[in-house]
Amino acid sequence: MPTDTLRFPDGFLWGAATAGHQIEGNNIGSNWWEMEHRPDTHVVEPSGDAADSYHRFGEDIRILAELGMNSYRFSIEWARIEPERGAVSRAELAHYRRMIDACLEHGVEPIVTLMHFTVPRWFEHDGFWRADDAPELFARYTESVLPILDDVHYVCTINEPNIAAMLAGGEKAENLVAHGLAFPDLHVADQLLASHKASREVLTARPEILSGWTVATQAFHATDEEGSAEKLQEYGHPRDFWYLENAAGDDFLGVQAYTRTFIGPEGPIPVAEGVETTLTGWEFYPPAAELGLRSAWELSGQVPLMVTENGIATADDTRRHAYIQGALEGIHRAMADGIDVRGFQYWSLLDNYEWASGFRPTFGLLGWDRETFARQVKPSARWYGEVARANALTVEDADTTSRS
Ligand code: NOJ
Repeated sequence: MPTDTLRFPDGFLWGAATAGHQIEGNNIGSNWWEMEHRPDTHVVEPSGDAADSYHRFGEDIRILAELGMNSYRFSIEWARIEPERGAVSRAELAHYRRMIDACLEHGVEPIVTLMHFTVPRWFEHDGFWRADDAPELFARYTESVLPILDDVHYVCTINEPNIAAMLAGGEKAENLVAHGLAFPDLHVADQLLASHKASREVLTARPEILSGWTVATQAFHATDEEGSAEKLQEYGHPRDFWYLENAAGDDFLGVQAYTRTFIGPEGPIPVAEGVETTLTGWEFYPPAAELGLRSAWELSGQVPLMVTENGIATADDTRRHAYIQGALEGIHRAMADGIDVRGFQYWSLLDNYEWASGFRPTFGLLGWDRETFARQVKPSARWYGEVARANALTVEDADTTSRS
């Protein structure tokens, strides 16, 4: 089969993403840790030591760089920085500064997320995002972090505010996407937007930083039935489109895409029998990233984009390779149409704690031993690292007539 090469622009950010609570371990000051240990908890297992990346971040960043990636998206845990209301830990700030330094030492662009679902226990007890002063408290936390952000160019304020607003609506985090998205708590949505804006305002003190939030896009498809297209708008707007529209004017917007959802006249339709699904029960659908980018570009009024998450939970690493290949082809198509995409962050660098589903859905480019934490590089990681190094993707060229 003849092949073609899809080139990406110079400086394209090839990386992988993680979140503190999902890989660090022992994030004991956070609301999630507390919830995981309640007798009536709905989570299948607690996060425990997770991948112990709190202590092993240096090795993780080194492996990422040696594989060929040039960027790493990770989060700072608010619960560690401010374990009690108003009490800021200088030692924990120094810890996250060491992570940024480890990136810079390896020529890796650090992409820093300030809030990836988890918040300090006290913040939840004091009213969570519903509290009147929540935006102020998030801005104050942003101010605490500001001094360690030297040489950081990308900051994601809030991860998936749309999913956060659905979880705040009382939805259990088992597997939101596979079972249909809950109606979001609209007050929380407004508070998250106010918090995002307040945080961005603080970040303007460092003009070299580009800031934005990252939205879970769902690649909705209307069925042919009458009423489906209207339903898609009604269903999609409060869960997805509103967040993209409200990124207008931001420095960049993160797109996080995994699968697609069909919408009929009554709402979302479960994945059809016989369709390939992943360990999270989602349809194997590599064009999700391309469609998320197209939707984000249009609805935000052409804000620069980054794929801040895209990936697959699978025990069959060859399907991971195939998924990333398909996703990158789609991203390249979107870019060829003039959409400004700054980078691609595969979710996830490591097999991660997948919230209420525990450690079973394996998204990682790297696995790790449950007892020794020894890292295992999967073949897909080596292949993806080579794509990153080459800044180019080889594709099978089905249309030989178009070749010169
Ligand atoms: C979205 C979230 O940001 C992340 O925490 C989660 O693990 C992945 N998607 C996969 O579900």
